[in-house]
Amino acid sequence: MAAGYSGREVNALEPRVDKNIQELIRLLDTKIVDQIVEERYSSNNKIHSGDILSSFAAYSMTGKEAKSEIMVQIMAGSNTIATAIRATLLHIITNPVVLRKLRSEIATAGLTADIISNTQARTLPYLQAVIKEGLRIHPPVSSLSVKEVPKTGDTFKGMYFPPGTKLGISMWALTRNRDLFGEDADEFRPERWIEAKNAADEEEKKGDSEARAKLKEMEFSVDLIFGHGKWGCLGKNIALMELNKVFLELLRRYDFVVLNPMKPWDSKHSGVFSQKDFWLKAYKREDVSV
Ligand code: HEM
Repeated sequence: MAAGYSGREVNALEPRVDKNIQELIRLLDTKIVDQIVEERYSSNNKIHSGDILSSFAAYSMTGKEAKSEIMVQIMAGSNTIATAIRATLLHIITNPVVLRKLRSEIATAGLTADIISNTQARTLPYLQAVIKEGLRIHPPVSSLSVKEVPKTGDTFKGMYFPPGTKLGISMWALTRNRDLFGEDADEFRPERWIEAKNAADEEEKKGDSEARAKLKEMEFSVDLIFGHGKWGCLGKNIALMELNKVFLELLRRYDFVVLNPMKPWDSKHSGVFSQKDFWLKAYKREDVSV
């Protein structure tokens, strides 16, 4: 049985979610994955285009293994990052304060490459704060990522969980925790990350580490949206690299206008999100050289 936003069990929810997922799997299975893998694996020239399927074949994956791997890549690696990009972009372009500060950082970053390197992007403090804040305010995965307690049972903070207990975590509750992120936790405000870091640096000079511990807890909570340990997201570094580049490169070139400010998108939730009717108009920024 699936738990709804309130945490209460909702009988009607799970079959609907299952149906949607089955439909997506059927589409991917029959129309895309089967067709492409079969075409490639039946040819004498499996490794030719330098794409990821070539790499699977080069490492001797069977067609069956490649199909299953592709399913994971498509499901895990496209919807999640698409949601992260859409949600963060929407929050940036509808917030003049954030947009102005981000553009100001971009303008003084001394960009030389066509597309910023991951290494350079990581040195831009406001961009990094925007990315963390985007993931915090709208974690792309909101299912509970349930894990089962092993046969030995387990104990956490003095509470015993018998074998077979299913434990999940609500990412949305975690990243909007007011005790940790402040009373304005529902607001998209990247400055909270800069303030927390400044406070940690200042306190450390006086030999105190409370603010540093708080910053670490904030970072760890947002990091948990990628899962953790052996269950963690295998694509996390790729996702972060994409985020490091995409906002900066779009915003330095274009102004974006939300075409329907009364209802900017139609976003549906079923453990992950799907958004449609998210219409933006891009205007080239003539005054900026890139
Ligand atoms: C912001 C973007 C992303 C978020 C929030 C995210 C989050 C997650 C989460 C929560 C899990 C499951 C952890 C669990 O079961 O506890 C997961 C698994 C996974 N993710 Fe991501 N992900 C993102 C982007 C990506 C990308 C871009 C890729 C691939 C390029 C990817 C590949 C995977 C794979 C392969 C798994 C399965 C790992 C396994 O088999 O255990 N993810 N991700």
